Amino acid sequence: MTATPVLPDGWTLVALDSVGSTNDEAARLADAGAAEGTVVWAREQTGGRGRRGRHWASPAGNLYSSTILRPVCAPPRATELGFVAALAVADVVPAGRDVRVKWPNDVMVDGGKIAGILLESSIGQGGIVEHVVAGIGINVRFAPQLADMRYPGAALGGSVEGALEQLTRALSRRLAEWRRDGFETVRAAWLDRAGPLGIEVDVRLGEELVRGRFAGLDREGALLLETPAGPRKIVSGELLGRAA
Ligand code: BTN
Repeated sequence: MTATPVLPDGWTLVALDSVGSTNDEAARLADAGAAEGTVVWAREQTGGRGRRGRHWASPAGNLYSSTILRPVCAPPRATELGFVAALAVADVVPAGRDVRVKWPNDVMVDGGKIAGILLESSIGQGGIVEHVVAGIGINVRFAPQLADMRYPGAALGGSVEGALEQLTRALSRRLAEWRRDGFETVRAAWLDRAGPLGIEVDVRLGEELVRGRFAGLDREGALLLETPAGPRKIVSGELLGRAA
């Protein structure tokens, strides 16, 4: 356990006791020119945000971090970073626990959600990505249980400092892999950690509920389903239940 987390070479830590949302603080720093690998970490968040406008409970004891990334790519490719981040989270889970990634960016451990990932991009003139903030929350000491939670929670154990060190190392490795090999390697690693092909899943698309068999992930990160009406490709939606 270390008091001040040590980040990978060239990365910079901005450590805060309390902040509204580390994503907002990281976006502010990115707009002011902060480099890739700047990590905003707060012991607690007073306005932690989840996907789809949800609240992310953020009392002290769990990990709240947002990393500034500056990929040189068009917006559709930036969404690949959600899969990169999910793999990095899965990498920090100790061996012996059942870890599964769940489309699009969830990480489940022993059947419970252990982490949340909120990617937010800033698009500049010409439609090029200026920066991406990869906000990652990991349940370390406890799993908050809220009335609107769709899954049970799970927790990593250990220290928040240790979790941040491991997460940034894993993220640095996975990013290097993505830059070197492209999405294909990430996609294969993600499928390796996902639920088995063929299991039945439900996906919510706004008001519509689609049921089908999990048939993989396409080259752009869309979820592939075999439904009674034929194959279906889901670009944006919410997978319900615990698997895939
Ligand atoms: C989800 O809905 O699953 C995503 C939750 C993302 C939470 C993290 S905690 C660090 C960062 N700051 C935020 O306000 N949200 C993300």
